Amino acid sequence: MGKPLDAPLGTNTLSVRDNRTGKTYSIPIVDNSISATDFKALSAPRAPSEREENETEKGLRVADKGFLNTAVLRSEITFIDGDAGVLRYRGYPIEQLALHSNHLETAYLLIYGSLPTKSQFQLWHDEIMHHSVIHADAEQFFRSFRYDAHPMAILTSALSYLGSYYSEANPSLQGQNLFTKGDKTSLATMDKQIIRLIGKATTLAAMAYRVRQGREFVTPPTGLSYAGSFLYQMDHLGQENYVPNPVLEKALDVLFLLHADHEMNASSTSVLQVGSSLVDPYSAVAAGCASLYGPLHGGANEAVIRMLISIGKPENVPAFLEAVKKREKVLSGFGHRVYKTSDPRSFIVRKTADEVFKITGKDELLETAMALHDAAMKDNYFISRKLAPNVDFWSGLIYRAMGFPNDFFPVLFAVPRVVGWLAHWRQMMLQTGGVKIWRPRQIYVGAGKRDYVPLEDRVAVEEPKKTPSVVEHSGISKRTTLASFKGQTRAKL
Ligand code: ACO
Repeated sequence: MGKPLDAPLGTNTLSVRDNRTGKTYSIPIVDNSISATDFKALSAPRAPSEREENETEKGLRVADKGFLNTAVLRSEITFIDGDAGVLRYRGYPIEQLALHSNHLETAYLLIYGSLPTKSQFQLWHDEIMHHSVIHADAEQFFRSFRYDAHPMAILTSALSYLGSYYSEANPSLQGQNLFTKGDKTSLATMDKQIIRLIGKATTLAAMAYRVRQGREFVTPPTGLSYAGSFLYQMDHLGQENYVPNPVLEKALDVLFLLHADHEMNASSTSVLQVGSSLVDPYSAVAAGCASLYGPLHGGANEAVIRMLISIGKPENVPAFLEAVKKREKVLSGFGHRVYKTSDPRSFIVRKTADEVFKITGKDELLETAMALHDAAMKDNYFISRKLAPNVDFWSGLIYRAMGFPNDFFPVLFAVPRVVGWLAHWRQMMLQTGGVKIWRPRQIYVGAGKRDYVPLEDRVAVEEPKKTPSVVEHSGISKRTTLASFKGQTRAKL
């Protein structure tokens, strides 16, 4: 970096002229990317009028609010071509995997890079199912939540709680290179946590489900598939030889596989961000779960159903779309940061929905969903912005047809996504050159240096966003407000 412009045409370099100084720099292009740190060499003297906080003399910064065009690492896991609607796990098209593979086989593929042989798969499957059992103490933890707690709040907390059982897997206790050494012992420790997390994800999720139903918890069964075991753990009420419906079991497995990974989405990025401090994987995965909870991410499948319920019937679709275009309403389940055409998963979900509806009956919201989909796909507002249905547009309808409560839908996304989170976490722990803590920069636009003002000299700042809001006191009854305290009545506490 910082070399004069001498690179001939056709070389993998970018020539940049800094017009502040007249200097020209040649920046290497590797895999069609430039390194943001190379731009640090582009420094210039600070103009007298310029803020010192710009740190101009320390080199140019690269701004990318929302990571719109920043590659944070090199990855071998998942490839998306958002313009062509292509999604591949480790090179295999998602359509082929959905047709021929299953969630746990795909999990092996995502985490270790190749499809397992028969014996490798058997061992992997058995290990995961063996590690699905949770310590009996965990029951108290789940029972401590209120009956109406959102299951994602329970699951996020439970993932973090789970880590407290495994001190041998905690770099804070065992040494910070616990997972980065790459030797046999370190790999075995890492893989054991991966197996535990995948194995127990269904158990934690099922417990979050049952606690809200007021049901006793169920020990994970033997002899069922991953999805089958999950259904059993949620639904078994003591019946003899209870077996989940195979069509629903298969549909759930396909949905799990489709949701297993999606490269640098918000939740995987959260896992890596948190994991980059070398914290234990349970804490990192809990952070991913929290990120997934949001309505712009995994919470969208729940939001779609609430939206469809609010629209009510197909006749109301045009008015709803007009409100969306005026930005008064949100069309959940449409649009994607990467896909600028239909999300390829949405076609498979649609097909899976038909299989499920054959046995559950069609969901009453399906017609409204179809009308909304068809109208949006023909509307210039959505066409010009390349907004098409994402996976969440249809998945909620299947979950609903299967009888899951709305707020459980993001859990059904989080359970399989544990696989993707761990694939990325493992890759980062073993990456060449070690783990670098994710510590982005900022562009400071706040106040320049100023001196502390004594209390009596201050002028009140009263703009709404710059002072604390007046908050309502919930839980204060009329009786409390009318009571007296130390002889004094208070109209409002
Ligand atoms: N409805 C209406 N307009 C939309 C929508 C939508 N669902 N999504 C994007 N737009 C509009 C934006 O208003 C913007 O318009 P403008 O250029 O006139 O201002 C334009 O399309 C570009 O949208 P951005 O918000 O810049 O796109 P971004 O990549 O930042 O956001 C996101 C992507 C968050 C997914 C967005 O499309 C959205 O909010 N969708 C609804 C929520 C949803 O379905 N999330 C699930 C995502 S998939 C997943 O997590 C599995």
